[in-house]
Amino acid sequence: MLKQLRDLHAQALDELDKVDNSRELELWRVRHLGKKSTLTEILRSLATLPLEERPKIGALANEIKKTLESSLEEKKKLLQEALLSSPQKSARLDVTLPGRALPIGRLHPTTQILNEICDVFKNMGFQVIEGPDVEWDYYNFEALNIPEHHPAREMFATLWIDTDVGGKARLLRTHTSPMQIRMMERERPPIRVIVPGRAYRYEATDATHESMFYQVEGLAVDKGITLADLKGTLFDLCRCLFGEERKVRFRCDYFPFVEPGVEVAIGCSGCDGAGCRLCGYSGWIEILGAGMVHPDVLARVDIDPELYSGFAFGLGVERIPMLHYGIDDIRLFYSNDLRFLRQF
Ligand code: PHE
Repeated sequence: MLKQLRDLHAQALDELDKVDNSRELELWRVRHLGKKSTLTEILRSLATLPLEERPKIGALANEIKKTLESSLEEKKKLLQEALLSSPQKSARLDVTLPGRALPIGRLHPTTQILNEICDVFKNMGFQVIEGPDVEWDYYNFEALNIPEHHPAREMFATLWIDTDVGGKARLLRTHTSPMQIRMMERERPPIRVIVPGRAYRYEATDATHESMFYQVEGLAVDKGITLADLKGTLFDLCRCLFGEERKVRFRCDYFPFVEPGVEVAIGCSGCDGAGCRLCGYSGWIEILGAGMVHPDVLARVDIDPELYSGFAFGLGVERIPMLHYGIDDIRLFYSNDLRFLRQF
């Protein structure tokens, strides 16, 4: 009987080794530990054995039962682990798992401010259009009263693309003003338009200069437009962007395509006028150039300067969030540093 028990034990463990799924495991359990198993029968028949054999056989049978039960539990665990790690099974969709959060991007601070500026002008009845980054010398300079040897070309460190395309020169626009010409060639007054877009200059970069930056060009042409209209429009813009309290400075400047020309500056938010790196220690930050469209420019696009007048302005876009948030380096905008971009 003892030998029978030991053989039974060895055989059961041997079979268990070969079990590789839970269905087989259940069959194994019924076979070796179930009510009709040999082991159970032996345990049940202990009472019928001769007295002197009972303790030995009983002890061994019980011990075997215990080890088989614990081997069964172990095997169960192993099978479960294998199930979880098998690629075929784990690839099945478990709809009870919580979803994985997808990272959501956001608008670049420049885009955000461009949208804000466009909204201000849309509310004033301006139309929004865009123009090409690659321009002809004619639109960028000539038509704006800056002929080839005009000293004002010095104002714009130009990135040339081709200097001779059938006698014409091509460049990366140094400002959005060429769109004034394109717009006036295309449309007759009344014109009210703004043009958001990139401009390029071949310049050494520093905290306030980038070789690529954004501008918003504005143009209004109609009968009876005066400098007061320009001033009112720009003051309104400044109030919308910076609030009622911020100081706005309006003074003379020179641009060949306007007469008179003006410049608008805002009291520096970084130092409240005391002077800091952001404002070049002047207390003011220039945000735009503007003026009344030069009569020669109007005449060039066949708009009669005796009948019509207009104003134009060009706004430096990055300056605005810089003022708003006290960002003291324009290079941060286009260096793709997520630690910076995530703050907006
Ligand atoms: N285009 C000028 C610049 O980039 C700004 C400007 C636009 C000035 C329109 C007057 C009128 O500096």
